[in-house]
Amino acid sequence: MKIGIMGAMEEEISLFHNKIKVLSQETIGLRNYSIGKLHNRDIVLTFSRWGKVAAASTATTIIEQFGADIIVFTGVAGAASKSLGIGDVVVATEAMQYDMDISALPGFERFEIPLLGLSRFPFSEKYVEMAVESARNYLSETLKKELDRETLDEFGILKPKVATGLIASGDRFIADNSSIEKLAELLPDLQCIEMEGGSVAQVCYEHNIPLLLVRTISDRADHSAVINFSAFIKKVAPYVTFGVIDDFIKKV
Ligand code: ADE
Repeated sequence: MKIGIMGAMEEEISLFHNKIKVLSQETIGLRNYSIGKLHNRDIVLTFSRWGKVAAASTATTIIEQFGADIIVFTGVAGAASKSLGIGDVVVATEAMQYDMDISALPGFERFEIPLLGLSRFPFSEKYVEMAVESARNYLSETLKKELDRETLDEFGILKPKVATGLIASGDRFIADNSSIEKLAELLPDLQCIEMEGGSVAQVCYEHNIPLLLVRTISDRADHSAVINFSAFIKKVAPYVTFGVIDDFIKKV
């Protein structure tokens, strides 16, 4: 099985570079793809860049050029659910694009992806369960060994938890209360928002390739989002994203 690993930011996949035994590298469309082995699995690792178009085109390359059998997409997200805090991990059971809206045209619902007749892409229960277990192991056993008390206190990370549910993507960094509250009202089961997962979900759906989408909460998409996000991606995200996905890859 060949596993494509993607992060939208360099920080989100930085630790993978040291752990993967790289056999070759290729540059296609401004992305560098590292081809190699991790836990004896065939891996293609890349940094997709930000936003839905960047991520979708990267996912297409991973599938078409490198023949990935599954894509694992990891990174950070802003919380939409009030029950989530910074440091919690969300494993998506479904993903959508919250900025897709052609409901002005007759016969289309808001958020519906044109011609596919659906607005949410569902994910394999088997991979969700495996990733939940990996995330629980990491958060309960490894996180406190890798990060010092001062860093955990800075983000108010006490007892981080794992949640499952809907992740929604749009081409916007949300950093105000009213925007995130409006979205949470429109989509009451929404867990968190980011800028890529829903587009990669569409590519994987269209190619019939499974996707695992895992996000660690870096901020609350509110007035403090920019500060929290910027610090979190440097100090915490690399450890959680690597720890969870590394364990998942051992099992897949
Ligand atoms: N990824 C992490 N935090 C985010 C936010 N507040 N908005 C969009 N994407 C994000």
